[in-house]
Amino acid sequence: MMDRLPFIAGNWKMNKTVGEALDLVRKLKASISEVEGVEVAVAPSFTALYAVYKELEGTSIHLAAQNLFYEEQGAYTGEVSPMMLKEVGCHYVIIGHSERRQFFGETDETVNRRIKAALGQGLKVIFCMGETLKEREEGKTFSVVGRQIEGGLRRFGEIEIKGIVIAYEPVWAIGTGKTATPDQAEEVHRFIRERLERLYSREIAQGIRIQYGGSVTPENIKGLMSQENIDGALVGGASLKAETFSKIVRFKEM
Ligand code: 13P
Repeated sequence: MMDRLPFIAGNWKMNKTVGEALDLVRKLKASISEVEGVEVAVAPSFTALYAVYKELEGTSIHLAAQNLFYEEQGAYTGEVSPMMLKEVGCHYVIIGHSERRQFFGETDETVNRRIKAALGQGLKVIFCMGETLKEREEGKTFSVVGRQIEGGLRRFGEIEIKGIVIAYEPVWAIGTGKTATPDQAEEVHRFIRERLERLYSREIAQGIRIQYGGSVTPENIKGLMSQENIDGALVGGASLKAETFSKIVRFKEM
């Protein structure tokens, strides 16, 4: 089995002013800068990206944006382009988060276009997917996630897929305190990896990191990370405090 570097990312969603973001990032630098063997990223809101980037310079913590638009420039009021994100120091961009799909009309097709635009600008992508509670209860988890993978990755070859990290985030577990059990998450992660193998190759599928997201805490991270196909976490609520996020980053020490 291939060794995949664990990857813990904090999605701050629509939280934190620039001042609050800087305060958090300074605390994170102090608490996790010497942690090795784990990749770490934080995703502040657009307005705080540049200030956080400046604060992170010289550290190994990567900067991520939470979304982008797929056009290069033009009359798209309120949108942000891939180049704009690159310019303010982003390394990653989160694409296809369920909150974007739910509240802002994102579809597999627009997710696909966004991923393409991000990769074209040299950004790495955290590509999110996951089923709703209703879909799970109707036994549709695998068909929904399968459709999201194939739709989001449509027309991408081996070069593109290497710039992508997948985040499996069951919608019913986001912000609810109801984490998927390690077994429930592992079942879907394994399904995702098998689908990647079918779409690409065994070697490629083994190399792609799949994060879990949905009510991740310092208490449940260890159990999740002990699963064979769980390679990291996309953390929402618990990433807003240095104390909880750094404990999650330090999961190996538990
Ligand atoms: P919570 O950790 O708050 O459940 O959010 C998860 C998430 O949506 C991360 O992208």
